[in-house]
Amino acid sequence: MILILIFTFFYHTSSFASNPSYNVKSFGAKSDGNSDSTKAFLSAWSAACATTQPASIYVPPGRYLLRNAFFNGKMCKNKAITIRIDGTLVAPSDYNAIGNSGTWLKFQRVTGVSISGGTLDGQGTTLWDCKNSGKSCPKGATSLAFYSSNNISIDSLSSLNSQMFHILIYSCHNANLNNLKISAPGNSPNTDGIHLQQSSGVTITNSRIGTGDDCVSIGPGNSNLWIENLSCGPGHGISIGSLGWDVQEAGVENVTVKMATFSGTQNGVRVKTWARPSNGFVKHVLFQHVVIVNAQNPIIIDQHYCPGDNNCPTEVSGVKISDVTYQDIQGTSATQVAVKFDCSKASPCQGIRLENVNLSYKNRAAQASCSNAGGTTAGIIQPSSCLY
Ligand SMILES: *[C@@H]1O[C@H](CO)[C@@H](O)[C@H](O)[C@H]1NC(C)=O
Ligand SMILES: *[C@@H]1O[C@H](CO)[C@@H](O)[C@H](O)[C@H]1NC(C)=O
Ligand SMILES: *[C@@H]1O[C@H](CO)[C@@H](O)[C@H](O)[C@H]1NC(C)=O
Ligand SMILES: *[C@@H]1O[C@H](CO)[C@@H](O)[C@H](O)[C@H]1NC(C)=O
Repeated sequence: MILILIFTFFYHTSSFASNPSYNVKSFGAKSDGNSDSTKAFLSAWSAACATTQPASIYVPPGRYLLRNAFFNGKMCKNKAITIRIDGTLVAPSDYNAIGNSGTWLKFQRVTGVSISGGTLDGQGTTLWDCKNSGKSCPKGATSLAFYSSNNISIDSLSSLNSQMFHILIYSCHNANLNNLKISAPGNSPNTDGIHLQQSSGVTITNSRIGTGDDCVSIGPGNSNLWIENLSCGPGHGISIGSLGWDVQEAGVENVTVKMATFSGTQNGVRVKTWARPSNGFVKHVLFQHVVIVNAQNPIIIDQHYCPGDNNCPTEVSGVKISDVTYQDIQGTSATQVAVKFDCSKASPCQGIRLENVNLSYKNRAAQASCSNAGGTTAGIIQPSSCLY
């Protein structure tokens, strides 16, 4: 009996102790914020990938300058790598260094990668200045992107001043994003907080996003998304879209947004489609328990998106929007029209449901505006519904 206990004890301790941890400093990373640590991080990644038992990569406190880093999962044997960050990863201050590459920190074809803690500093300020001056500038790099990956998690990470998007999840399945703090100034161009595309099973919880573009943007081909406890502002709100740029386009399906607050944003909850032919669709969406403080467009479906009136030959959107529920949406609008359903003549919105929606404008009644929008209501509806 005692022998078995001793055996069990040693078995567990040793298997625990043998989970390898790779400190980026032992691969040559420097925490001075000036020395290029890219190679060290990639060497730590390769070492973790060469093992099969759960492994961690550790980034101690300090600032680490990284250029483009590509964490490739193709040859990675490991399906459980945790990157624990106690420090700050800093992008080069010269935007030309990564600004044409699309992505600063890129994970591709990885499975079971978790990022926990830490700060990403995209140093986007000089690129935004360039863009805002009207000069020709690089497009900018997304700070952190996962492509074609499964079972990933990002927890307790802060992202500051990305050049472009802060976080991109593209063609991924099962991603948990929790306790994120994302910030950039309200006038920083194209700094979407989290952009999702062609992904399923993504959850975003307990996060605070203040940025210059959409807090969360949901592109074509997403399904089974869950967003809960989000605080957004400044920014452009949560946007499903832009959708319907392509004629053949995957739809968006089963999106839940629960307990979200929007403060001083351009939009609250938005669905946006290009005024172009498309076979795309949006269906089965629930916006529930949403507080809106002074957003310009608290509730909006815009199917006539066409900035500059360019590239929209037919001027109607083919994207079919149905089964969208707004349940317990309270607060204030910064403009008179608090609820706007501007749907497509070619494929009118169907099955819009309003339940206990109360939005006011300057302590007075706000207005609702509808075209080609059908649906039902229940409970208190202020402004009164214009759905047919
Ligand atoms: C993802 O995680 C789930 C649950 O932990 C597991 O069943 C599934 O096999 C994993 N998928 C991959 C591709 O590892
Ligand atoms: C909708 O997505 C949620 C996850 O966000 C999932 O739990 C649920 O099963 C999905 N519903 C359908 C009908 O697929
Ligand atoms: C959202 O916040 C509430 C209140 O703080 C908490 O009870 C709930 O667990 C949170 N939801 C998630 C998914 O963490
Ligand atoms: C709508 O909300 C306002 C402000 O919170 C409140 O004063 C008003 O009573 C509410 N209206 C209804 C019909 O509940």
